[in-house]
Amino acid sequence: MARVLVIGAGGVGNVVVRKCAQVPEVFEYIGLASRTKAKCDAIAADLPRPIETAAVDAENVPELVALMRRMKPDVCIHVALPYQDLPIMDACLEAGVDYVDTANYEPRDTARFEYAWQWAYDERYRAAGRMALLGSGFDPGVTNVFTAWALKHHFDEIHELDILDCNAGDHGLPFATNFNPEINLREVTARGRTYEDGRWVETDPLSVHRTFDFPGIGPKEIYLLYHEELESLARHIPGLRRARFWMTFSANYLKHLEVLQNVGMTRIDPVPFQGREIVPIEFLKALLPDPASLGPRTKGKTCIGCWMLGVKDGTPKRMCVYNICDHEACYREVKAQAISYTTGVPAMIGGLLVATGAWRRPGVFNMEQLDPDPFMDRLNRHGLPWEARELAV
Ligand SMILES: NC(=O)c1ccc[n+]([C@@H]2O[C@H](COP(=O)([O-])OP(=O)(O)OC[C@H]3O[C@@H](n4cnc5c(N)ncnc54)[C@H](OP(=O)(O)O)[C@@H]3O)[C@@H](O)[C@H]2O)c1
Repeated sequence: MARVLVIGAGGVGNVVVRKCAQVPEVFEYIGLASRTKAKCDAIAADLPRPIETAAVDAENVPELVALMRRMKPDVCIHVALPYQDLPIMDACLEAGVDYVDTANYEPRDTARFEYAWQWAYDERYRAAGRMALLGSGFDPGVTNVFTAWALKHHFDEIHELDILDCNAGDHGLPFATNFNPEINLREVTARGRTYEDGRWVETDPLSVHRTFDFPGIGPKEIYLLYHEELESLARHIPGLRRARFWMTFSANYLKHLEVLQNVGMTRIDPVPFQGREIVPIEFLKALLPDPASLGPRTKGKTCIGCWMLGVKDGTPKRMCVYNICDHEACYREVKAQAISYTTGVPAMIGGLLVATGAWRRPGVFNMEQLDPDPFMDRLNRHGLPWEARELAV
């Protein structure tokens, strides 16, 4: 039996808490803390079992430590924002709590995300006998586990990896992002980066694209992006020669994004406005729909997975592993759209595998470094069934 503290009561936090509540045989106690306690209470009021809620500033380490000492969690699942990764990791070390997140650290004033800051905690986590599990969402997260599982059971080496993320959902609004708008827009407006033979090749934002026929969905335009799991997979998957990440965008999304960029609304530096400073992307976030509000209106499916080329017993082999998720089915189950669902379910599973000891070991780990089998099994049991298919070479 374990005690879990979830930090962040947004779209993803809602799903993590509801999915933890579905596993009472593991999570005997659930705490939920976020900046706005009313959001935690609204989630708590709609649950079949009691949880404890609290307000916390997740950038204030002493406040976090006091909260952890009061709630006494075994594991903390952090699904607030990437800016809070390091203070929460510090607090977990001080309070003696294991740590799980879904997005790597990003400083507020530079759109630059990389694992170096969090990998630097490895020594301290090992010395303290604590575990930090990084990137336990879908991508990063499940995509790392799909790759590790394919390598364990189907390949001797994976040479080429394409991670494909298709959201064919329609919310009927002119423009909205499926998760936190600030983080989402920083990600998609960054330069593309792919891993090629041991080095990183950069491309202009959204300049490389092609059509791909997704299982269960059909043809969609996919765009090359840089995504954080490429960094850890390039480091941990031996033999990998090329790794790329692709995401679908509708023509409508791209049209709005282009205008917002051209007028400066996606800028992350402060600009003077009426005697004070504002950051345009933070103001834009206040104008855009809250991703959690898209749940009841989104129809359609997501398909996210890994398409891989490698060798088995000296013969070239190609295969894919993916999940298809239905927005409306997610809403019926947990009152959230599929992007929050596909992130929240793996975050709960990561927390569960750490808390039960199945994955627990001292240090800082990315998902592909751990045995993929218990995670793949849990995906099928907790709402994200996957398909694996061999393809023609
Ligand atoms: N790996 C993946 O596949 C994946 C996919 C999607 C998202 N994500 C990650 O999941 C996380 C959550 O996304 P989301 O869509 O749920 O975002 P969201 O709806 O904006 O929720 C974020 C929550 O964090 C809270 N928060 C922000 N700053 C805080 C602070 N200083 N102290 C305490 N709480 C704070 C917010 O509080 P307020 O309500 O008061 O603003 C909000 O409740 C993000 O880090 C995102 O990058 C990962």
